[in-house]
Amino acid sequence: MTAPVLNVSGVSKRFGGLQALSDVALRIERGQVHGLIGPNGAGKTTFFNVITGLYTPDSGCFELAGKPYSTAAVHRVAKAGIARTFQNIRLFSDMTALENVMVGRHVRTRSGLLGAIFRTPGFRAEERAIAERAQALLDYVGIGTYADHKARTLSYGDQRRLEIARALATDPQLIALDEPAAGMNATEKVQLRALIDQIRRDGRTVLLIEHDVKLVMGLCDRVTVLDHGKPIAEGTPSEVQTNPLVIEAYLGHGAAAQVPA
Ligand SMILES: Nc1ncnc2c1ncn2[C@@H]1O[C@H](COP(=O)(O)OP(=O)(O)OP(=O)(O)O)[C@@H](O)[C@H]1O
Ligand SMILES: [Mg+2]
Repeated sequence: MTAPVLNVSGVSKRFGGLQALSDVALRIERGQVHGLIGPNGAGKTTFFNVITGLYTPDSGCFELAGKPYSTAAVHRVAKAGIARTFQNIRLFSDMTALENVMVGRHVRTRSGLLGAIFRTPGFRAEERAIAERAQALLDYVGIGTYADHKARTLSYGDQRRLEIARALATDPQLIALDEPAAGMNATEKVQLRALIDQIRRDGRTVLLIEHDVKLVMGLCDRVTVLDHGKPIAEGTPSEVQTNPLVIEAYLGHGAAAQVPA
């Protein structure tokens, strides 16, 4: 059996008096879309921030494709093979869509990010290939015609797709998406679902935080439910949506509309 792409356990994180994550474990098999759901404030984004090196955990074991990896620095996690998007979009707003993706690619180039910023000779030699690859990724996520547009001029939905393209540019083993459908209209959500499906068909592994129940249930192979920083259920979408603990967690937060039907 091959090792899971992500295998973390014992992950805890406290903010002052708040235990945001408490002994969280998560395994994600290769080629799957794994959903991470739970009410507002459950700890989903904190979990992303910990596994990608943005927050220092109080405890936790972290393995990627069977090997321990360090969460000590964001760029090292990216190099190890985890890419992510942000709940609050983080793009270089005055750079073009193409340039934003090219920056993502520099995790994997010899000249690196500083070479890109200072345009060293080594960087210029690599630049054409990187630009071609970035354009291909923009086409892949469906915004190829906006390559020369500044990121801030793109619609909200297109900015989210641009973040996915930038994450894919690092050639990740695991791509972690934090509420990619937030702010999207119904048509954009259908396109997003097709895109995530395509990413899976292309052999990548996806960790998906999402509040849109239809999207989660229609797309995910497995789902983990967090509540108050603790995993309360894990299973297939249909197992999770009938789990009384899950229904209780959502009702308890007054979010009955989001309870999986
Ligand atoms: N940097 C921080 N400092 C202090 N508290 C934080 C910090 N980041 C998150 N928290 C707290 O940790 C808890 C979990 O927050 P988190 O953002 O992980 O939830 P979430 O599940 O992503 O929620 P949402 O669905 O609303 O995005 C919340 O109570 C939040 O206020
Ligand atoms: Mg969040």
